[in-house]
Amino acid sequence: MTGARSEHWDKVFTTKVENEVSWFQPRPETSLRLIHACNLRKDACILDVGAGVSHLPDVLLAEGLNNVVLLDVSAAALERLKVRLGGDGRSVRFIVADITTWEPDLVVDLWHDRAVLHFLTESGDRAAYAEALRHSVKMGGFVIISGFALGGPERCSGLPVLRAGQDDIAALLGPDFDLLEAFEEDHQTPSGGRQRFVFTRFHRRLV
Ligand SMILES: C[S@@+](CC[C@H](N)C(=O)[O-])C[C@H]1O[C@@H](n2cnc3c(N)ncnc32)[C@H](O)[C@@H]1O
Repeated sequence: MTGARSEHWDKVFTTKVENEVSWFQPRPETSLRLIHACNLRKDACILDVGAGVSHLPDVLLAEGLNNVVLLDVSAAALERLKVRLGGDGRSVRFIVADITTWEPDLVVDLWHDRAVLHFLTESGDRAAYAEALRHSVKMGGFVIISGFALGGPERCSGLPVLRAGQDDIAALLGPDFDLLEAFEEDHQTPSGGRQRFVFTRFHRRLV
């Protein structure tokens, strides 16, 4: 499965420019608002799962965050990001991995995922995702997950997705994670369409 995934995504990121994909955002405003709400220290470890070629790291680095980790199943996406960030990305760690098989070797203050979990339509893959999350997010850390809402599209990038509500995401994470906020929002695609997203922010209990 990992091979098929990396093949699909490498093709996307080697054949399409950034505003040719439906999920493009020039600036990820909602993610940034949710991240700012976590009040993280500048040296907090922020893991962006399925970073793609998002502009999130550019803003985080410009804000002085110096412990940003970008993970993606597509080496092509991370290579594009590395080139774009240039010298500003010196402190960034890049990890090419499928989140369903990744074995975490770091402790993170914040797990951020925009539009990745929704591609995991098999329950085993979702359980593996949650396992990786539980192994890497520290106690007292935060989790921000967003993806297509129950009323959102059924496919993304030509792949089927599993739409979710805030309760589905909370159930996947389990009782150690308190839901701090959740809401739905429309994403305006570059071609003028609208996609219904759910955003969730959790805090991992200290005990
Ligand atoms: C819809 S894009 C979103 C990209 C980015 N988060 C954003 O908001 O622009 C989904 C991203 O998840 C990555 N991805 C998909 N399945 C993955 C998996 N199983 N493990 C890691 N990354 C994955 C893709 O390569 C792609 O970069």
